[in-house]
Amino acid sequence: MKGVLLSGGTGSRLRPITHTGPKQLVPVANKPVLEYAIEDLKEAGITKIGIILGNKGREEIQDILGDGSKYGVDITYIVQGNPLGLAHAAGCARDFVGDDDFVMYLGDNILKSGVRDLVESFEAGDYGAGIALQKVDDPQAFGIADVDDNGNVMELIEKPDDPPTNLALIGVYVFSPAVFDAIDELEPSWRGELEITDAIQSLLEDGHAIDSHVVTGWWKDTGKPEDILEANRLVLEDQALDTAGVIEDGAETDGRIQLADSATIEDGAVVRGPVSIAADTTIKAGTYVGPYTSIGANCILENIHIENSVVIGDSMITANGRIVDSLLGRNADVESAEKLLPEGRRLVVGENSQLKL
Ligand code: DAU
Repeated sequence: MKGVLLSGGTGSRLRPITHTGPKQLVPVANKPVLEYAIEDLKEAGITKIGIILGNKGREEIQDILGDGSKYGVDITYIVQGNPLGLAHAAGCARDFVGDDDFVMYLGDNILKSGVRDLVESFEAGDYGAGIALQKVDDPQAFGIADVDDNGNVMELIEKPDDPPTNLALIGVYVFSPAVFDAIDELEPSWRGELEITDAIQSLLEDGHAIDSHVVTGWWKDTGKPEDILEANRLVLEDQALDTAGVIEDGAETDGRIQLADSATIEDGAVVRGPVSIAADTTIKAGTYVGPYTSIGANCILENIHIENSVVIGDSMITANGRIVDSLLGRNADVESAEKLLPEGRRLVVGENSQLKL
């Protein structure tokens, strides 16, 4: 069994955060989303992993993941280029996969329970594909499965106008190499993409058995800023305590705090977990960091009250005020304008930003 991890696409729904890098590298609890998928594959015993690269951030992804040895896996990079669809991306991995079965994992998805059960179930039978499903509130936004009372898959439809169920295909699939023949026959969908959902439907029509599971642990597609915040919340909720950094006398801390060894919570600061604070970051006096917040590396926070937020890194946040439910991109600074004239907020805001003042 091999792994194919999709890291192409444009990340348009996460702009401006993704103007400078791929969405799969946006950190959740101070770890790029893509790394969770690599760990899940490794945990399922899959160590040969092909990473599909788009046009954006190829070098950045390769710099971070390298040859995979730091995760105990062996990574091969495969260039897809333009995002012509998930099935097109899978097709690019044909030579890499050869005659093996493979797990295809969407690099912007993150799930609590990993992929081991899905893989074991697929290997125990004679299936063309294995799919994982979860109930969603907005089925029009996903690939949807119609299943009978016994869990047999009847039909799969990508982003239907009139969904037959609310069971969404989540971003992990297991395939036999038969999927490549199905991909060869596909026509682009209404959105101009070769859809993996259509490839699985075609396997079904060709008489292949499809293994399906409803996944009960949480799952998040991190396509939008609010999804990143929710994924961050879910991961922090489960995280173990690891306070290697410095907590000065007079700092007030409680709850689970992950503090990198070169990070500091200074005298006079308050931090209430679950919180993750990365390397070389200092939380100064007068600052409150509240639950479900991740502060990336090399930041200085002073005076600010911040909670339920993600600060990606390299930021100076020194304003007097409250930041909640926010996602701050790398190098974003938030300073005080209190003593400046004329009075008013001073903003340098990227395309597609959202400000609630
Ligand atoms: O999140 C689950 C959903 O993922 C499924 O329910 C849908 O059936 C499936 O089509 C997919 O829908 P999205 O519209 O959310 O997929 P998205 O375009 O966001 O791409 C998913 C990942 O695959 C993302 O990490 C980018 C990468 N990708 C995407 C395309 C279109 C590629 O590597 N190459 C591509 O050509």
